[in-house]
Amino acid sequence: MLEIKNLSVEFHTDGGVVHAVRHVDLTMGEGEIRGLVGESGSGKSVTAMTILGLLGTRRARISSGQILVNGRNLLELSPAELAKVRGRQLGLVSQNALSALDPSFTIGSQLMEVIMWHRKLSRSEARKEALEALRTVSMPDPEHKLRAYQHQLSGGQRQRVVIAMALAARPQILLADEPTTALDATVQKQILDLLLQINQEFGTAILMVTHDFGVVAHMCHTVTVMRRGEVLEEGTAKHVLESPTHPYTQALIAAVPRLHAHDQAAAVPRAERRLHVFQEAAL
Ligand SMILES: Nc1ncnc2c1ncn2[C@@H]1O[C@H](COP(=O)(O)OP(=O)(O)OP(=O)(O)O)[C@@H](O)[C@H]1O
Ligand SMILES: [Mg+2]
Repeated sequence: MLEIKNLSVEFHTDGGVVHAVRHVDLTMGEGEIRGLVGESGSGKSVTAMTILGLLGTRRARISSGQILVNGRNLLELSPAELAKVRGRQLGLVSQNALSALDPSFTIGSQLMEVIMWHRKLSRSEARKEALEALRTVSMPDPEHKLRAYQHQLSGGQRQRVVIAMALAARPQILLADEPTTALDATVQKQILDLLLQINQEFGTAILMVTHDFGVVAHMCHTVTVMRRGEVLEEGTAKHVLESPTHPYTQALIAAVPRLHAHDQAAAVPRAERRLHVFQEAAL
């Protein structure tokens, strides 16, 4: 469904050329949850933003590669064509809900705008869909939340809105860039579980950008480990968690806080079960 081949991205800065992404290969099948893991600056966000066509600076250059979604190379599309793919096929859940939402509009009007843009519905239909979208992400008191502004919501509720917006066009693939880093541990788990539920209910594939192997153990079927812009290793989450080949991956796994050691031991079989379901679905 998504196939990245030999992707390289560089930034031309005053201090020289930064090779942010180097010859990256990455594939995602239907309903797959892939973790994209690596330390800060390893190129995870640049990879995700390149897929979305949202690099957002003229200093960025894609120096090689292809990004195929259902066989179409996104790098060859016009901005208008790409905007259609974004939303219909690709949705983004970013790290910071505050920057994704507009403080001067209600949650409802922002949701409706996205829904009307992608699905050509009337205002009243879009309002119904917006309400439904808030229900899908288990927002408490959704009717009331439609009329609320972002500052009236908790961090976790805002992130639910961002997920609802990303899902509004029913994308096949959700790109989630550290969607829970700004949240406390309990809310983090709720949001991860919400993403899992969406994956299971709608078959939405998820590219889960994270630096945390605990997240991989909790929810990913497959994982790609990046360092300094390159893919170091790649495989099923079970395989990489149990027998990482690269010392860097071993160190990342060892860095999962001891506090979660107990959790993680329980989480591996869970990921394994999901993997099994995923593999069966792929057959
Ligand atoms: N707009 C930009 N201009 C110049 N360099 C950039 C730009 N955006 C990213 N980079 C560089 O590209 C590299 C990869 O950055 P990226 O944001 O993908 O890291 P990351 O893996 O997402 O890290 P983090 O976990 O901190 O979010 C870094 O060296 C970064 O400094
Ligand atoms: Mg990042």
